[in-house]
Amino acid sequence: MTKLLVVATGNPGKLREMQAYLENSNWELILKPEELEIEETGETFAANACLKASQVALATGNWAIADDSGLEVDALNGIPGVYSARYGQNDSERIARLLKELGNAENRQAQFVCVVAIANPDGAIVLQAEGICRGEILHAPRGNSGFGYDPIFYVPEKKLTYAEMTPQAKRSISHRGKAFTALLPQLDTVLSP
Ligand code: IMP
Repeated sequence: MTKLLVVATGNPGKLREMQAYLENSNWELILKPEELEIEETGETFAANACLKASQVALATGNWAIADDSGLEVDALNGIPGVYSARYGQNDSERIARLLKELGNAENRQAQFVCVVAIANPDGAIVLQAEGICRGEILHAPRGNSGFGYDPIFYVPEKKLTYAEMTPQAKRSISHRGKAFTALLPQLDTVLSP
């Protein structure tokens, strides 16, 4: 049996990534209606993921999935965190601002965090999972793949930035990849009667 799952994002890139994680599952993913905008008023990734999943499920009458993610820089006390998307007008502005704030700080440690939440058609959150990927902020961007802060996020384990990795390699170690890996086994329990 296939179940419809509405993705609570307007970003086709995120839809593609989610499709890749869920390709062997019984869920068929569709994008949320464009006019349905949900404001991210939460102060944590979990709060925002749950809010988006719940609101989209209620508005569409379907199961819904949402993720909320961002970059936490240790020397900046976790900034930009839940404000990662709002830290500048576009990716290059966001990267430039972060590099300026961090300056020549010796401590470049940071982590990407992702929380994924699934809501049933009544808007109740039935599943939630978190993934974290530790890394370091470089002094200058490297690589052309991906999006967002990818070119300045270096993963020592792979000796590459997110932007230097193939999509498959990024999925295997990324915060979003880890959150989905934790979520997938639980998804099957939601599907069974
Ligand atoms: P969200 O759509 O509210 O989850 O926004 C998350 C923001 O965090 C994005 O706009 C990016 O700036 C950043 N972000 C989240 N995941 C990634 C990633 O995998 N690579 C680079 N930046 C990311």
